[in-house]
Amino acid sequence: MDKFDWLLTAAGRESAALARERLLEQENILRILKRMRKSISPAQAAMALELAKLQIRARTKFTRADEMLFTKTSLEQATSERLALYKASRFPTGSSVADICCGIGGDAIGLAPNRTLAAVDQQQVIAQMAQHNLAVYQSTNASVFHLSFEGFDISEIDCLHFDPDRRVAGRTVLAHDFSPPLTTIFSGIGGRLTGIKLAPATNLPQHTREKIHREFIGERRETKQQLVWLNHPEYPKNRTSCTVVSSRGVESMTFDNDEQFKLCEIADQTGTYLYEPHSVVIAARMVNGIARSLGLQRVGNGSAYLTGDQYCNSALISRFRIESVVPLSIERVANHIHREQYGEIEWKKRAVEQETYEQLLKLKSRGERKITAVVTPSQRGAIVIFCQREVGPPVPQKVSHDPAKNET
Ligand SMILES: C[S@@+](CC[C@H](N)C(=O)[O-])C[C@H]1O[C@@H](n2cnc3c(N)ncnc32)[C@H](O)[C@@H]1O
Repeated sequence: MDKFDWLLTAAGRESAALARERLLEQENILRILKRMRKSISPAQAAMALELAKLQIRARTKFTRADEMLFTKTSLEQATSERLALYKASRFPTGSSVADICCGIGGDAIGLAPNRTLAAVDQQQVIAQMAQHNLAVYQSTNASVFHLSFEGFDISEIDCLHFDPDRRVAGRTVLAHDFSPPLTTIFSGIGGRLTGIKLAPATNLPQHTREKIHREFIGERRETKQQLVWLNHPEYPKNRTSCTVVSSRGVESMTFDNDEQFKLCEIADQTGTYLYEPHSVVIAARMVNGIARSLGLQRVGNGSAYLTGDQYCNSALISRFRIESVVPLSIERVANHIHREQYGEIEWKKRAVEQETYEQLLKLKSRGERKITAVVTPSQRGAIVIFCQREVGPPVPQKVSHDPAKNET
């Protein structure tokens, strides 16, 4: 019997469930293994324990993680259920979709409801896991194929989703470093509506960017993926979207690509509010674009922070009410912290020397007041902005592709 087949038997599932329970009760790993080895082989015990660890880790991504199968890498690569459902909502219901490079089925789980789904992966074990995981989500209209993209017939398929493997480790990846290569994908899709998931840092040449729509998608505070859209009526080419998906809803803004190169105004002095763009805006290089759309100014040249007197409530920028601004001198900042009775300080810094930052972190105050301190360049030199984080009403539930509609 194949080792994953055993995990699918009643004995395998019970062993993983038992190991999970004991791990959650913080029981010692050696004791867990010893206990399990009374009824199963050492290899089976190790396998059940490994799966149990992955299932616990996967709870942040999947609501049914405890019933699913993973390998360490395939779990790391999997799209979370929330993001998968958002992405799937951009594919027409009733269409036939092929999820090429489906892995253990993260994206496929979102795509299957209301569509006919073909999930394709060239690794046999991974395709088996996808089959199992789709069944856990009762995706009866999904079929899994153990095939490579090159060997799969897409002639009857309406839409495509790809999540090519990265062949080269590291943060900055180039377009040709994928399996299948992007050139193969671009030339093979015909006129089909297609979404291609890439790492946020993937560098695409200028001539490619003009022919596609790029959507940077974030969850919580992180940028999770860059999605390349082709032949999608709602995602015109030569434009870039920034989208944040959270339990409170989905918010998105779209920019012309040339917004990247247009400068925004630099503030003479800070206004009522300080705004910190979400990492999707920074990954998409649209800090100037969002500043211009919302009528905000940059705090300084080289600063990612924005300022203005107007109240903006958007998941794409965090809002802080400014209390005071102090020039960056350790002595002046120390006196200010003491005078204002600040206690717990959340320090934020961008483009400031590490040595100075470390000195700031050592500053102590016996006060009670919580505060955020932002170290940033400004027109008048480096400054520290003391401010309070504000949380506004929930973001809208719908996606708007018109930047003007997101202004508040
Ligand atoms: C990044 S993972 C997919 C993760 C998946 N989207 C998810 O959310 O779980 C990439 C997968 O592509 C598969 N793969 C790589 N090259 C392929 C090819 N030419 N054809 C089909 N599958 C391929 C690998 O086996 C791997 O499982």
